[in-house]
Amino acid sequence: MITPHGGKLVDRIVSGAERDALLAEAPKLRSITLNSRETSDLEMIAVGAMSPLEGFMTKRDYDGVVENMRLANGVVFPLPVVLALKEGDNADDFRPEQDIALKGADGSLLAILHLTDCWEINKAHEALQTLRTDDVAHPGVQYLNSIGSHYLGGRISVLDLPKYDKFNEYRLTPAQTRALFQEKGWNMVAAFQTRNPIHRAHEYLTKCALELADGVLIHPLVGETKSDDIPAEVRMDCYRTLLSKYYPGDRTQLSVYPQAMRYGGPREAILHAICRQNYGCTHIIIGRDHAGVGDYYGTFDAQKIFDELGEDDLAIETLRFEHAFWCRLTGAMASVKTSPAGPEDRVFLSGTKVREMLSRGERPPVEFTRPEVADILIQSYAPAAKANA
Ligand code: ADX
Repeated sequence: MITPHGGKLVDRIVSGAERDALLAEAPKLRSITLNSRETSDLEMIAVGAMSPLEGFMTKRDYDGVVENMRLANGVVFPLPVVLALKEGDNADDFRPEQDIALKGADGSLLAILHLTDCWEINKAHEALQTLRTDDVAHPGVQYLNSIGSHYLGGRISVLDLPKYDKFNEYRLTPAQTRALFQEKGWNMVAAFQTRNPIHRAHEYLTKCALELADGVLIHPLVGETKSDDIPAEVRMDCYRTLLSKYYPGDRTQLSVYPQAMRYGGPREAILHAICRQNYGCTHIIIGRDHAGVGDYYGTFDAQKIFDELGEDDLAIETLRFEHAFWCRLTGAMASVKTSPAGPEDRVFLSGTKVREMLSRGERPPVEFTRPEVADILIQSYAPAAKANA
């Protein structure tokens, strides 16, 4: 079984007497209510999905990550995983060695932060270094501009994981996916990250991976996404329907990935890879413009960035794909690597184009999307289509 990133699978969930003591301490503590991204980060830290992180980054770790994609101890980590001070709170009230109660949006106590430092954020610098832009139209920059002025760093002790009313049967922790892969006898496991319905191009990548690997983990991101991305509930319907008909059940595992999208392209691809290594995957599919948005990143930047890492930096390997499309000439899914056809024979629609079609009530072509997936999407866009009619 592949080693977790940094050497061991982190477990920050406390129990027994330690939990009781922290529960008793909590009502006396200053508290912070986490936003959606922070809540999913807390969950992922707690269960080891972000190993070796044991909490929200301290300034030393944060600086190393922002400047050199490395934690203070030298381990590769590409993006900040941080907790921001909330509006109305005063940075001077947050002193090192203090315990802070961390609450979910519903007010429930989730964890205790053992604060080590609080520092002012240089947002423009963080954005330029990590997202390669400070354009306010970029969703990651928008997020940065929406949060408070300081970060709070320190280990966390998690008392209760966030509770959800959706997809609970698909919420497998890294320990659970690892146990599952072992039980199934899968040695080579390819992870597929997605924030979209699985269209034919996505299916092609996962099927190519299935030709090589023992199994594929379909691992859709269900944390926060931008408002015009297709909602996770709709996507889950698409995945379940598609998998039940078009995938071999014994070689495909569907599970959800709680993280929020950063839209950070290349650096986020490394984050996606590290986390999937923690879930026990040996490979991750990286196609065109992975985790990208708009025109901020080159089509294959998210593949090239892995070449900047040293041999021992990351155990998980990438399965890199060219831009895939339906090819009219060969009558198959293809890429420039496998088909001599020119651009006129390639059926490819951008996400924006598909959303536009759906909101007009138009069906994406079968060369682009399986009819069963198109049905679900058409239905979910029906109210918008009606309003546009
Ligand atoms: S992402 O933000 O999660 O990367 P998306 O769900 O669209 O977005 O993509 C999932 C994975 O499929 C990514 O690795 C992406 O690079 C890849 N991908 C999507 N469409 C194509 C395509 N037409 N050709 C090659 N790779 C693709």
